[in-house]
Amino acid sequence: MKRIKLWDKEFEMSLSYEEIQTAIKKMAVQMKIDLEGKNALFVCILNGSFIFAADLMKNLELIDAEISFLKLASYTGTSSSGDIKELIGLNENIKDRTVVVLEDIVDSGHTIADVIAQISQRGAKEVKIATLLFKPDAMKKKIHLDYVGLAIPNDFIVGYGLDYDRRGRNFKDIYTLVK
Ligand code: IMP
Ligand code: MG
Repeated sequence: MKRIKLWDKEFEMSLSYEEIQTAIKKMAVQMKIDLEGKNALFVCILNGSFIFAADLMKNLELIDAEISFLKLASYTGTSSSGDIKELIGLNENIKDRTVVVLEDIVDSGHTIADVIAQISQRGAKEVKIATLLFKPDAMKKKIHLDYVGLAIPNDFIVGYGLDYDRRGRNFKDIYTLVK
């Protein structure tokens, strides 16, 4: 198996780019059905979701859609700090709109809970959650995830937008930390 080294840690390939694309295509099929005619505003949570958002949007050519970006940070090293900061806010008026939040990964669920609260507060009509990856064993919140690409074990991963201390976002496959 392909291995990479980032800083002091080794990672082993666990999901290929092709497997990721298959999962994204399936998400897009369901989204096209659900979001037809709604002119949804997709909100990409930066930094981690930039590659997922780009690949997903390319599969959604046939519906009216807009995209915006919200920059958040909650991770230090390889564990979630639970301390979520909003760094760059949404400028769009989201009142009475269908908003689809695009997340790279839902781990403890703290980040997504915070995002849902912020978006609901601004009067969105409905907030849907789309996450490429989900760690069911790490989830601490009761939140409905509308679109999940792949459920994965509770291990730290990098690649395809996800980082370990800022490195690793530029790998097209996903790698799991070797313990
Ligand atoms: P949560 O608030 O614990 O659900 O964490 C969500 C955020 O932490 C995600 O949006 C990611 O940016 C980051 N994150 C969670 N798990 C991982 C991982 O395994 N590798 C890299 N980043 C992660
Ligand atoms: Mg993220």
